[in-house]
Amino acid sequence: MSRTRTALLAALALTAGASGTALAADPGGTGTAAVPCTVDYKVQNQWSTGFTAAVTVTNNGAAKSAWSLKWTYGGDQKITSGWNAKLSQSGTAVTAANETYNGTLATGSSVSFGFQATYSGSNAVPGTFTLDGVTCNVDDGSGGPGGPTDPPPGTGNRVDNPYAGAKVYVNPEWSRKAAAEPGGSRIANQPTGVWLDRIAAINGVNGGMGLRAHLDEALRQKGSGELVVQLVIYNLPGRDCAALASNGELKADEIDKYKTQYIDPIKAILADPKYASLRIVNTIEIDSLPNLVTNVTPRPTATANCDTMKANGNYVKGVGYALNKLGDVPNVYNYVDAGHHGWIGWDDNFSASVQTIKQAATAEGATVNDVQGFITNTANYSALKEQYFTINDSVGGKSVRESKWVDWNRYVDELSFAQAFRGEAVKQGFASGVGMLIDTSRNGWGGSARPTGPGATTTVDTYVNGGRIDRRINVGNWCNQSGAGLGERPRANPEPGIDAYVWMKPPGESDGSSKFIDNDEGKGFDRMCDPTYTGNPRNGNNLSGALPDAPISGHWFSAQFQELMRNAYPPLS
Ligand code: BGC
Repeated sequence: MSRTRTALLAALALTAGASGTALAADPGGTGTAAVPCTVDYKVQNQWSTGFTAAVTVTNNGAAKSAWSLKWTYGGDQKITSGWNAKLSQSGTAVTAANETYNGTLATGSSVSFGFQATYSGSNAVPGTFTLDGVTCNVDDGSGGPGGPTDPPPGTGNRVDNPYAGAKVYVNPEWSRKAAAEPGGSRIANQPTGVWLDRIAAINGVNGGMGLRAHLDEALRQKGSGELVVQLVIYNLPGRDCAALASNGELKADEIDKYKTQYIDPIKAILADPKYASLRIVNTIEIDSLPNLVTNVTPRPTATANCDTMKANGNYVKGVGYALNKLGDVPNVYNYVDAGHHGWIGWDDNFSASVQTIKQAATAEGATVNDVQGFITNTANYSALKEQYFTINDSVGGKSVRESKWVDWNRYVDELSFAQAFRGEAVKQGFASGVGMLIDTSRNGWGGSARPTGPGATTTVDTYVNGGRIDRRINVGNWCNQSGAGLGERPRANPEPGIDAYVWMKPPGESDGSSKFIDNDEGKGFDRMCDPTYTGNPRNGNNLSGALPDAPISGHWFSAQFQELMRNAYPPLS
């Protein structure tokens, strides 16, 4: 959620669906809306004579190829301009009709548009909306096929940016491991993500803390203030289809098990009223959807497993299901994984990734309102800011984009990528308030190898290579990167459009083993974690840059933890 809305304005954000609609939870977890359509009308920004609003319409009826939404104002509101819909007004009656490019509205899918208007006196949210003559936000009595009615999207009492004004949960298990390392107490009180990386993690693996234990501890840490708990939802069927190091327990076709034994039990716990005062942030399924764009046939980077997951639809279904179910809990904030600039920053991948995420966010009963934002760079190493060159620089008539390092990417760092990704997502119909998280746990690149000024302007390559903060061999390298350091410490609202810098990947936990190690977690051995490996098309056939002697993914890797502290940027004091 962008920080363009202040807390005060967020308080003005009114939700049409909330008026007169009980915020009933969905106790059975199987609810299908009996409301034919829902309308989420939010005043986003309001000043003494005008306001802007964002409207999201969700169609629960038959698919449409054109649509028209009507409402009547109780006051003297006058729409002066709009976007993503053709708006007309006669007296107090308003009609919003589709543009040529957004007339298609499948069952369960949503469309958003916005406008600016003038008003005087009060600016009440209209009470009734009709979509093609049918009244929205009201149960039509049909009961729906699945039992109890879902709350309309966008209801609940979510704030714009959950991190604003809140502490973030410190995972005691990670904290203990960090504190046990020499020098580790300097960071042991930082908040890190709690990874629900298998079904057993819900109750706790090998006597460790389960989800309820974490949430109980979170209530204790919260005290009387606000507190964010960061969970990572990471257990899709056929997980990690382009790599082997984080393959999981569920086979490619085990989507039902994912739904009933993983997502449903998590939802049941999160929906416990005991936890209603926590702000629960979910990172949704790292690496899954972008893989459906970049690592499938006919790309040279295709893998058989990613082709399978694209063909069977189980990544899209799994993410849709997770968003829908977890999004029913009013104090949950879902952030969908968006890869990182060194993956999704190329033109071929960028808007296609947003499209694939949109597809998932409108599958299995989910709507774009189940998405509060996106997270980039999770467990990756992409530098936050390249301070010594920009994408617009050129040397000797050659653009930085032509350098070997940038290789025609559109972005040189994570911050510019994340901000642009937010813009593209809003353009494609996600709510205008969506915000970004950036995982800065391991993208610091400090230490003696960090450049102190721009590279020599001999060629575009000397310029980029001499000045770049990201010291990887190739931007496609991702496993236990040698030379990396802790990045920016977690904090809220660091830059426009960025809800927070977070440490979603707990520093010190391995990305994958350097050689094959037998295990009962489903983890494979990926040669990208072997320092002698000379690569594949996904890293431009370069050396892997991985540290030696690493344990399997998720396990404690002391040598890496020590190096991350040594190379921290900003440095540790
Ligand atoms: C692993 C997970 C682990 C996570 C956090 C991933 O690479 O596959 O098992 O929980 O990292 O360290």
